[in-house]
Amino acid sequence: MKASLESLMQEGRDVVLRPLAEASTLPPGFYTSPEIFALESERVFRRNWVAVGRASEIPNAGDRFRIDVAGEPLLIVRGKDGAVRALSAVCRHRWMLLGSGAESSGTISCPYHKWTYALDGSLMAAPLMERADGFERENCSLPSFGCALWNGFIFVNLSGEAAPLSHALAPLAEEFTPWKMDEMEVVGRIEFDQRYNWKVLADNFMEAYHHFAIHPETFEPNYPAAISHADEANGPYAALRMPHKDDGLSDTLFKPLDGIPERARRGFSVFNVYPSMLLAVLADSVIWYRMEIESVDSFKLTVYLLAHPASLDVPDVETLKTFLREGTFAVHMEDLPACEGVQRGLMSGVARAGRLSHLEGAIHAHQKWLIGELARP
Ligand code: FES
Ligand SMILES: [Fe+2]
Repeated sequence: MKASLESLMQEGRDVVLRPLAEASTLPPGFYTSPEIFALESERVFRRNWVAVGRASEIPNAGDRFRIDVAGEPLLIVRGKDGAVRALSAVCRHRWMLLGSGAESSGTISCPYHKWTYALDGSLMAAPLMERADGFERENCSLPSFGCALWNGFIFVNLSGEAAPLSHALAPLAEEFTPWKMDEMEVVGRIEFDQRYNWKVLADNFMEAYHHFAIHPETFEPNYPAAISHADEANGPYAALRMPHKDDGLSDTLFKPLDGIPERARRGFSVFNVYPSMLLAVLADSVIWYRMEIESVDSFKLTVYLLAHPASLDVPDVETLKTFLREGTFAVHMEDLPACEGVQRGLMSGVARAGRLSHLEGAIHAHQKWLIGELARP
């Protein structure tokens, strides 16, 4: 590790690895340094499970979509056997990217010279290769990566060394059981190109301290900053609770499922499933902010709006889906200037790690985890 990187890591440990009441944020270099970004890709995003999509987006054999994780181009494909696989999207001939669109087909065909792969990644045909001595199709399968489903979400682990997902997330799975998330459908998607570090959004998502300033009309009246609180960290995720003021019932658009606990109907919760899966769990729906990270200061954000079919059994459901979409968009438009302003501030020569409020425990928990992962050789 270079001396400048080692001193930044040391500074990070000094300010973050303390009790919350004494802690600061990670220093700005963690949000802006290309070296930290490279280390994050290698040690955080390649080694851990990263959520990439919903199984219901590729219901049939041959359905697929493209996504990059830690700069690795992936093709997520449903096979003839029904299994979802994470294949390399890089052709074994001369590296053309496979499957740009969301097409469905019984094969994976390279647009460049039409090498054609089966849905499990094995090479089936390579035109005009008969004069290449010793060329063996068997040695030209697309590499595949760790892939697992959890609550209807597709997760990928590039390094193959992450512990089983279900084990680490067992406490969360128990809390989520009444939502039947594996049966939820995508009722809307909103896409944004974001020009700031991914952790700026993770921080923003995981504190309600900013409600009175940034969301004075949307969130603060019913979910006041002052009564929000983070759980004690007890796994590879952070949880922030936002109770409704005066213990009132939250407004819902759809019909909450039977069995959703009382606490969840009187407020809502947000989660960061490490490294970066941001989930808002409401009584009648789930909102997932998927970040496809491109560089130290850019990512594609796809906001997934999810609801259970039984919740959607309400009059005029299409209008309600539109309300959910518009409301979610409006809230992000309130947060966006703050995220962009923070990014500008992070680039300043005099920016330093900032002290945290007692309302920012979920940020603190994430950053403690992150610094541990970055240091893991
Ligand atoms: S690069 Fe794919 S067939 Fe040539
Ligand atoms: Fe916000």
